[in-house]
Amino acid sequence: MTSILSSLSFVSNINHHSSLHPLFSQKHILKPKRLDHHHHVSRVACCSNNRGNPSNTTPPNSNGGHRRDVLISLGGLCGAAGATLINSPFAIADPVIPNYKNCVQAEIPDCGKPPFDCCPPPTSTDVQPFQLPSYSGTPLRVRPAAHLVTDEYLAKYERAIDIMRSLPPNDPHSLISQANIHCAYCNAAYHQKGFPGIQFQVHDSWLFFPFHRWYLYFFERIAGHLIEDPSFAIPFWNYDSPDDGMRMPYIFTSNSKSPLYDPLRNTYHVPPTIVDLDYPNNGGCEGDWDTNSTIMYRQVVSNGKTPAQFFGDAYRAGYEPACRGGSVENCPHNSVHNWTGDGNQPNGENMGVFYSAGRDPIFYSHHANIDRIWNVWKSEFGGNDFDDQDWLKSEFVLFDENKNPVSVKVEDCLNTAEQLGYIYEDVGVPWKDSKPTPCRSRAQRLAAKKQLGLRNDNVKFPLVLGFRVLRIEVKRPRKSRSRQEKKKAEELLVIEGIEHDGQKPVKFDVIVDDDDDGKLVRAKNTEFAGSFVSVPHSSHGMKMKTNLKLALTDLLDDLEADHDDSIMVTLVLRTGQWVKIENIKIELGD
Ligand code: C2O
Repeated sequence: MTSILSSLSFVSNINHHSSLHPLFSQKHILKPKRLDHHHHVSRVACCSNNRGNPSNTTPPNSNGGHRRDVLISLGGLCGAAGATLINSPFAIADPVIPNYKNCVQAEIPDCGKPPFDCCPPPTSTDVQPFQLPSYSGTPLRVRPAAHLVTDEYLAKYERAIDIMRSLPPNDPHSLISQANIHCAYCNAAYHQKGFPGIQFQVHDSWLFFPFHRWYLYFFERIAGHLIEDPSFAIPFWNYDSPDDGMRMPYIFTSNSKSPLYDPLRNTYHVPPTIVDLDYPNNGGCEGDWDTNSTIMYRQVVSNGKTPAQFFGDAYRAGYEPACRGGSVENCPHNSVHNWTGDGNQPNGENMGVFYSAGRDPIFYSHHANIDRIWNVWKSEFGGNDFDDQDWLKSEFVLFDENKNPVSVKVEDCLNTAEQLGYIYEDVGVPWKDSKPTPCRSRAQRLAAKKQLGLRNDNVKFPLVLGFRVLRIEVKRPRKSRSRQEKKKAEELLVIEGIEHDGQKPVKFDVIVDDDDDGKLVRAKNTEFAGSFVSVPHSSHGMKMKTNLKLALTDLLDDLEADHDDSIMVTLVLRTGQWVKIENIKIELGD
């Protein structure tokens, strides 16, 4: 892996004009929302929720004193495969496997709650390797877009979820057991086989896509089993579409008596509000197609050119978790979780926090869309899966439709039609040409950069990002590369050692060559390189530490800045109390 270190020359802290974070400015608190379609009476806040309010920047090292201060760290064993592994005790890396037998209490954002048990109910049978059914000759199951389903289909799905809701909690097929599987895999209930001290975690790494694919596969089999229809396929929430798809699908919201309904959602975000894939930001209460389609394009196409960019960093046996999630995991995945959850609940339950997300049936449709995007990335944009054996042989243990725990491998889920027997309803890829466009002119951007260049000062890492917008100049290792060189290696902006409170949602935006503090430049603009988004999932005192890589090659070409020696990077915190950043650099790599 090539990594050419570049240096920084300046940091400026620019105050926001008001003492409130943009998201919580008066404007938003007072702005009324359309009331016609809703039955809610009082509306004091707009689309904001009350859990992300950035109060004063809390020093990252403060902890309650009486509590364990756990750091989920990179531990020198994260992502940087080759170089690090050679000198490490894990020189022969292996796939990660959960120590399923030794499930422990989960660590969840507490707000006064005791530790939480989301381990699977005990079973009489031992874990067996899953025998993949042969799907040749049987018709493929077609997962439909949730906003397009027929009444007949809806009745079936409601029946399946109704049964899941009525089963006792210790039945592996109950909705709560299904939700707890997700909790166990993301809230530190499992450790890695052979590494008792190290967590097995399915987020923030290359395990994200395959774990959720397998998880949904069994959820679907169980649903089909319960309604005695093995051809049943779960619906996907088609929020990357310009029509009704980009609202919460009506099947989940229109009838509060439906088993698909969940009262714990953000009430300001129910239909007709349009999903905001850039949530939260300072731009108003809801998303718009223009911005959403551009975000899809940026995350899947520009920020997803290589497997490492798309899936995230390697996570091998002995690695500490949370190395770095891929582009789509950050956004739209994490953004949609935070957007959907109820901000009036202590932790944004249900969707806005991982331990409870699976209790809301909309979760499975959100993830079906993420899963579909993986297929789209391969079929429409030439994406290729990893061929790394440690990825391919990684394992998960899940319940099958006979309530037996079975183990599955990543390599057995890569082709949904051939290996798993399902495809998605073809709804097209309406965002496939939605390239971002520049917000300001090259002359304006140059003037802004010149201003910054005049104030050459020393930069001290770690940076703490809070209320104030941070702006830094980052030197580029190479400029004006040939088209071939650009194809070979992406120019990546690497934000290293991002540390934050794991029990709060976090989002910060990264803007290139602009000085308006993120007020003018929006997610649909070229200057907007991307966002770091995190869904709460760890307990009090547990800090998350991870990385972010954003692609610069297309961006700098489109800003006519490929001949510049350096770029100006602006970081704007949109929600979260503080974020500590260890280093920022540009590297050429994958
Ligand atoms: Cu496992 Cu959408 O999270």
